[in-house]
Amino acid sequence: MVKQVAIVGAGISGLLACKYTLSKGFHPIVFEARSSIGGVWINTLETTKLQTPKSYYQFTDFPWPSSVVEDFPNQQQVHDYVSSYATQFGLLEYIKFSSKVKSLDYEGPSDEEMQAWSLWGGTGEPFSSKGKWNLSVQDTQTLSTKVHQVDFVILCVGRFSDVPNIPKFPHDMGPEQFHGKVIHSMDYAEMDNESAAQFVKGKEVTVVGLQKFALDIAMECSSANGSAHPCTVVYRTEHWNVPDYLPWGVPLAYLYFNRFSELLVHKPGEGFILALLAYILSPMRWGISKFVESYIKWKLKLGKFGMVPKHSFLTEMNSCLISTVPEDFYKRVEGGSINLKKAQSFCFEKEGVLLDNDKAEVVKADLVILATGFRGVDKLKDIFLSPTLQTHISGRPENAVPLYRECIQPRVPQLAIIGFSESISNLYTSELRCQWLVELLDGRFKLPNISEMEKDIAKWDEYLKEYSGNKYYRRSCIGALHIWYNDQLCKDMGRNPKRKDGVIAELFQPYGPMDYACLC
Ligand SMILES: Cc1cc2nc3c(=O)[nH]c(=O)nc-3n(C[C@H](O)[C@H](O)[C@H](O)COP(=O)(O)OP(=O)(O)OC[C@H]3O[C@@H](n4cnc5c(N)ncnc54)[C@H](O)[C@@H]3O)c2cc1C
Ligand SMILES: NC(=O)c1ccc[n+]([C@@H]2O[C@H](COP(=O)([O-])OP(=O)(O)OC[C@H]3O[C@@H](n4cnc5c(N)ncnc54)[C@H](OP(=O)(O)O)[C@@H]3O)[C@@H](O)[C@H]2O)c1
Repeated sequence: MVKQVAIVGAGISGLLACKYTLSKGFHPIVFEARSSIGGVWINTLETTKLQTPKSYYQFTDFPWPSSVVEDFPNQQQVHDYVSSYATQFGLLEYIKFSSKVKSLDYEGPSDEEMQAWSLWGGTGEPFSSKGKWNLSVQDTQTLSTKVHQVDFVILCVGRFSDVPNIPKFPHDMGPEQFHGKVIHSMDYAEMDNESAAQFVKGKEVTVVGLQKFALDIAMECSSANGSAHPCTVVYRTEHWNVPDYLPWGVPLAYLYFNRFSELLVHKPGEGFILALLAYILSPMRWGISKFVESYIKWKLKLGKFGMVPKHSFLTEMNSCLISTVPEDFYKRVEGGSINLKKAQSFCFEKEGVLLDNDKAEVVKADLVILATGFRGVDKLKDIFLSPTLQTHISGRPENAVPLYRECIQPRVPQLAIIGFSESISNLYTSELRCQWLVELLDGRFKLPNISEMEKDIAKWDEYLKEYSGNKYYRRSCIGALHIWYNDQLCKDMGRNPKRKDGVIAELFQPYGPMDYACLC
């Protein structure tokens, strides 16, 4: 009998999972809470563009159309591209729209039995005759709920939507004290462009955060209000946000996306020779980081604005935190339509935002937009009914999702997670993971036993700890080790991980999605 596979989410990861499971003869059913495909690309800020150059953000068998000439297409262009992909591969008929998966319940062996397993799912197989997943799916139009039973679940629910990260405030110092309005960047992004511009027009706006949503929203507010009502950005950490990908004219990809760049850092599971090389070449690793930093400092005049980060560019790369700075952002700071205020904490009072609990420093505001990110782990964890499985998903105390090959939680059977752990180019990474996953489902290779998988996860953890700095450690990211990570997937699948022609190209040419075309 054909095994039933359910995919939750029809963003880029869910569409890829659908396409690749179909390619192996499965008949997936995709549940999508919204009424259309594309996930985060359905609706976002007017100014949103791809941050990754489009050659790194493309499907291996479906290049960008020649009509898109920009290197960084806008939201509409990305959405059109993703929609054309879904149409081209006939994916739409497998998607049930307006179908929100409210919960996942594993029916089969008890928690005690599962705890005693040494192999994933008890047998090491992706499917089992003893276990099934029950998905409780709500029709978001009628609010009726139906239970679907399937053999395997692929969770592609994304991590930058639905569950906002709202900071906790001391008693009597939260948004309820404030006479103005407080919203999250997610609510602002959901407004249509005109309503968003009207919403901020003529208001004293404070934006909290200094990553991509914060930078873009501050730009939109400053465009709407100029220096008559400057937008205040309250941030706690300076970041190496990049003006472009050409530090001193050298493409960043040659510094971080080729095999040579990966020789400069220690790698999880490396042998003696690679460890020695990383040690010997560490001054070069430092030098490259300083080379990029000097360019960003010079180009954005970070020193002048007191915005030089304390951590290295390598840390920023390895934590998948690289954002592009909107053009002219610092010109607006200079021109007085954006004010930057550093504070380690903030809370509310009647007239605005109180910084570092210091009564003397109140930023008056009519509107506060919290661009403080998302609680992706909570979103993922809370979908499981079983508290035991919830604990496996949210990991040990550090609160990240411990996944083997960034796809499989060794103690959660018959289930994979795609698109949670980040990279510098998320489409390409999700595609490779889907290729790997369907080979696993098709029986082409088997997973090692649970303890080996846990050891491997621990090794990746160590790597992240070493290069991400304490604060961003375990943000679920493969950092600047794309090729090393992709090598592991290729080897599991029995494919040659060396994808270039010749030794020189193999060492120095940057790797991108097209190197992994035709893997299956
Ligand atoms: C504004 C923005 C811009 C970005 N720009 C870049 C970029 O330039 N480069 C880059 O590499 N990455 C970028 N990212 C990261 C981006 O998240 C990934 O590139 C990619 O689009 C994620 O796709 P996904 O399918 O994994 O998740 P999502 O796009 O979040 O899709 C998840 C889907 O699952 C659905 N869903 C969630 N829960 C349920 C449920 N319980 N039941 C049913 N359906 C559910 C959601 O409705 C959604 O459609 C950006 C993110 C944002 C927010
Ligand atoms: N392509 C595009 O144009 C585009 C547009 C928007 C978003 N995106 C992507 O969407 C994803 C989410 O971006 P995001 O900006 O929402 O989130 P994010 O990258 O998680 O950044 C969150 C920001 O909020 C700050 N923050 C969190 N908690 C805080 C607190 N309690 N007090 C003060 N500050 C706090 C963080 O500061 P610290 O650094 O100090 O932790 C950080 O500056 C990212 O991958 C981003 O690249 C892309």
